[in-house]
Amino acid sequence: MFAQEAYLDNSATTRVYPEVAAEMQQVMEKKYGNASSLHRRGSEAERILHASRRTIAKILGVKSEEIIFTSGGTEANNLAVLGMARRNIRRGNHLITTVIEHASVLGPFKKLEQEGFTVSYLLPDKQGLIDPAKVVAALTPQTILVSIMHINNEIGSVQPLSQISAAVKAKNQAVLLHVDAVQSFCKLPLNPVEHGIDALSLSAHKIHGPKGTGALYLRRDVLLQPLFWGGEHEKGLRPGTENIPGIAGMALAARLSDQNRKEKADRLQNLKEKLISAIQTAHPRAILNGPRKEEGAPHIFNLSFPGLKGEIVLHALEQEHIYVSTGAACHAHSKNPSHVLQALQLKQDTLEGALRFSLSYLNTAAEVDYAATKINEVVHALKKFQARR
Ligand SMILES: Cc1ncc(COP(=O)(O)O)c(C=O)c1O
Repeated sequence: MFAQEAYLDNSATTRVYPEVAAEMQQVMEKKYGNASSLHRRGSEAERILHASRRTIAKILGVKSEEIIFTSGGTEANNLAVLGMARRNIRRGNHLITTVIEHASVLGPFKKLEQEGFTVSYLLPDKQGLIDPAKVVAALTPQTILVSIMHINNEIGSVQPLSQISAAVKAKNQAVLLHVDAVQSFCKLPLNPVEHGIDALSLSAHKIHGPKGTGALYLRRDVLLQPLFWGGEHEKGLRPGTENIPGIAGMALAARLSDQNRKEKADRLQNLKEKLISAIQTAHPRAILNGPRKEEGAPHIFNLSFPGLKGEIVLHALEQEHIYVSTGAACHAHSKNPSHVLQALQLKQDTLEGALRFSLSYLNTAAEVDYAATKINEVVHALKKFQARR
C-alpha cells in the first residue's frame, strides 16, 4: 500500500470490508454445505441463506420471500426485464426505458425488440433527469413494463422514482415498474413499497461486498419467467446451487453499509462537494456533467477539463495513485463516447474530456484532500504541456 492513495472508482467496484472477507472465508472453510442437503451441513448453509435473505429484506422493508439471489446486478436486471416482459406478454408488447440505463438493462431491451416487443427509449434533460410526465406520455394501452434506474452510474443523476411510479400507476395500475438500484442501495432511502416499485436490482460489490453476487426484489404477486431452468432453488425463479459465501458476504456488507446510512451518506455528499469545489476553484473552466454538486448522488460526479482527453488525465492521476474512470467500467475499453454523456448533448471536447469520480464509505477526508491537490497539479501540468505543443 502506498503512503498516499485515493481510490475514487467506487462506481466500478468497491474494496470489500475486512469483516466481509473474514465472514466469507469462515463460511467457505467451516459452513461449506449445500443449502439443499438434508444433513447438518446443509441446514447450517440453509440457515445462512435464510438469515441473509432476511437481512436484505429488512433493509428494503419487504418480505424475505420477495428476495431472489443472483450472480450480480447484471443478472438481476436481465432476470427482471426479460422475465417480466416475456411472462406478461399476453397483457401487451410495449415497454418503456431510458437511453441512460446501464448496459445490463439496455441489452435485454434490445433482445426483447428482436423478439417482437416495441420499446420506447426516453431522453433525459441536461441534468440527466427523466421527467415523470414524459414517462406517462409514452404509455400506451399495450405497455406492460417501465424500467428506470435510480442513480445513474456515470453522472450521478437521481431519478424521481416516487413521482414516476405515482404518475404511471395513476394512469394504469397494471404497468410494472422495475428499478436498477445497484448504485443507490445503502446510499439513498430505498423502500420498494413506499416508492411503488415492483422489482428492484441490487449488486453486492458496489457496497463493499463480493463480486458476482446480487439480488432481485420481486413483489410477491408479480409474474416472472426464469432465465435458467433446472432445480427449485430461489422458488424455481433462479435455479442453481446458492453461492452461500457470496450471499453471506452481501448480507453483511449491506448491514454494515446501512448502519448510520444517513450520516454516512451526508459525509460522502460533503466530501464530494469539497472535491468539486477544490477542482473548480483551481480550474474554473472545468465542466460538471450532470446534476449540480449539491444535487445528485452523494458519491458520483462527472467532470470534464475541456481541451484535455479524459484518458490522458486518468493515466496521469494513476501515477499519483489516484484511481478514477472515464465512464462505466463495462465500456472502459470501447472507443465510442459514453451513451449517457451523449444523451446530455455535450460538446465534443467535453465528451472526450469526461472523467467520473466516485466515492465510497471507506474514503477519508485526507484522501479527498490529497486527490484535490494532485488533480489540480496534474491538470495544470497537462495544460502547460498542451500549450507548449
Ligand atoms: C447501474 C448499474 N447497474 C448494473 C450494474 C451491473 O452490476 P454487476 O457488476 O453486479 O453485474 C452496474 C455495475 O457497474 C451498475 O452500475
